[in-house]
Amino acid sequence: MCIFATRLFLGVLFCAPYQCSGCPLGCECFAVTHTVKCVSKSLLRVPQNIPGYARTVVITGNNIHQIGAESFSELENVTNVILSNNRITELAAHTFSALINLSFLDLSGNQLALIHPEALSIPGSPLQELDLSCSLFNFTALTDLATALRWGGLWGLLRLDLSGNRLALLPPGMFSHVPSLQQLLLSNNSLVAVYSGTFSGMDHLETLDLTHNAFGTFRNDALQELERLGNVRILLGDNPYTCSCEIREFVTWLNDSRAQVDVDAVRCVSPAGVTNVRLQGLTVQAIGCVSPVLPEVTDLTLQTSYVFLGLVLGLVGMIFLFVLYLNRNGMKKWIIETRDACRDVLEGYHYRYEIDSDPRLGNTRETGNYLPIKLTSDV
Ligand SMILES: *[C@@H]1O[C@H](CO)[C@@H](O)[C@H](O)[C@H]1NC(C)=O
Ligand SMILES: *[C@@H]1O[C@H](CO)[C@@H](O)[C@H](O)[C@H]1NC(C)=O
Ligand SMILES: *[C@@H]1O[C@H](CO)[C@@H](O)[C@H](O)[C@H]1NC(C)=O
Ligand SMILES: *[C@@H]1O[C@H](CO)[C@@H](O)[C@H](O)[C@H]1NC(C)=O
Ligand SMILES: *[C@@H]1O[C@H](CO)[C@@H](O)[C@H](O)[C@H]1NC(C)=O
Repeated sequence: MCIFATRLFLGVLFCAPYQCSGCPLGCECFAVTHTVKCVSKSLLRVPQNIPGYARTVVITGNNIHQIGAESFSELENVTNVILSNNRITELAAHTFSALINLSFLDLSGNQLALIHPEALSIPGSPLQELDLSCSLFNFTALTDLATALRWGGLWGLLRLDLSGNRLALLPPGMFSHVPSLQQLLLSNNSLVAVYSGTFSGMDHLETLDLTHNAFGTFRNDALQELERLGNVRILLGDNPYTCSCEIREFVTWLNDSRAQVDVDAVRCVSPAGVTNVRLQGLTVQAIGCVSPVLPEVTDLTLQTSYVFLGLVLGLVGMIFLFVLYLNRNGMKKWIIETRDACRDVLEGYHYRYEIDSDPRLGNTRETGNYLPIKLTSDV
């Protein structure tokens, strides 16, 4: 009796009010809504003793760096776990294995640098939604995640949110081990290209969100990869599209694709002439694929050939002058000779003229045999 009284007394003395009603320290428990909340309490680890009726566990805004298999004891009724903004850097193996009915897991706003290959595996693959937005610390975390998706047995995952992770590159085939995926959210990253194989093995995709990335265009292999997804909703808006001739295939694809694209948000960002113009329906003229470029090019080659011709002619002229200069003595001789020869001929004509105009010599002309030189000697 005495012992019992002492126990009761100590129990009342040391039992925190929440714990006495079966709620962990620093948390609020709502039996009616089956919810436990531990919000912004600077907790260093996931609280133990979460009541068995809990279906939704919200632990946000704390200071929990590492979580592992010891963090969650068996809680068959828990379906939603929200662990956003806790500065979690490490996910150890089998962290959630005890939560056999977990279907929604939110790890957004953390700084995951280390993810064990089996961090996400849960017997029975109950997980349907995984939110990892703004949570991957660097590229190592992304490759870790790719491995965890492969080894996690996430056969039932329907929705994966990877937005806001500054992703520049997706490992090929990263999603081929989550074959049921219906929604893949990759918005607000730094993706510049899709490659063949990026979305391989995804046969049930319904929505692909690639908005707010760094795509300037989509090349042929990317377009084939997107087209292979079939009649899905593909969001491509708010990317810095450059509407030069290289974007032609993308425009053709937008014109003809069977995918449901948010075409109204897919607009040119540059060059200046077409800023904010919708890509779909653009003509090849509008994106500068046809000529005006060509005449300019021929003009230029024409100009170049004129310049070249001028140079060649100038060179030939200079060589000619140089040869003349070298030959100047011979030239002088030739000029004097030519001059003398000319003078002789001219003098000959001079005589002929004098004879022709002399009336006394008229008869001689009639008799023929007229040679100015002879006549001169006769006179
Ligand atoms: C889960 O919920 C059911 C029904 O509310 C309850 O009977 C059961 O005891 C709960 N499980 C645990 C481990 O508390
Ligand atoms: C939890 O999982 C067990 C075994 O898979 C199942 O029998 C039970 O109905 C589930 N409980 C809830 C609340 O989903
Ligand atoms: C990512 O961060 C972790 C932890 O700081 C570090 O060990 C790793 O080398 C980093 N990886 C890269 C690619 O920077
Ligand atoms: C984009 O992601 C960054 C973190 O990478 C985040 O700070 C920012 O709020 C996000 N923006 C939008 C519009 O979601
Ligand atoms: C896209 O379609 C418009 C009209 O629907 C057409 O005028 C244009 O040439 C097409 N663009 C390309 C690049 O096929």
